[in-house]
Amino acid sequence: MNGELHLVEAAPDTPLLYVLRNDLGLNGPKFGCGLGQCGACAAIVGGKLTRTCSIALRDVGEDKVITLEGLGTAQKPHPLQKSFIDEQAAQCGYCSNGMIMAAKALLDRNPVPSEEDIRGALEDQLCRCGVQNRVVRAVRRAAAERAK
Ligand code: FES
Repeated sequence: MNGELHLVEAAPDTPLLYVLRNDLGLNGPKFGCGLGQCGACAAIVGGKLTRTCSIALRDVGEDKVITLEGLGTAQKPHPLQKSFIDEQAAQCGYCSNGMIMAAKALLDRNPVPSEEDIRGALEDQLCRCGVQNRVVRAVRRAAAERAK
């Protein structure tokens, strides 16, 4: 978990999201729908963007898990976190975790994405406030910063 080993007592069918939030105190991932449909709970599990409400602890196995907390800190934010702040790419902020984790998964596999690539990678991350255009700008900005 974010580069550290944790021992938790939880039933094997416990959704990973519950372990992250309730046992490990990682509140970046949000409970939105609980049905794998909104993306608010996203983390990267075994290198793949994963909806943590819909994966049981037993299915995580030995995979490494990266959550929003594993990207950066307030003092040293990840380029995506910085670009989301710079572009003011949040309104209520509930979708931000999923947007940033989906963007990280995209930039990890495609460091120089087109706008179409970004929109495609984020289209299943739901936002009800309407910040999608700012999110796209933030991802483009982070990609440009990383390419310098
Ligand atoms: Fe997991 Fe909505 S809370 S996808």
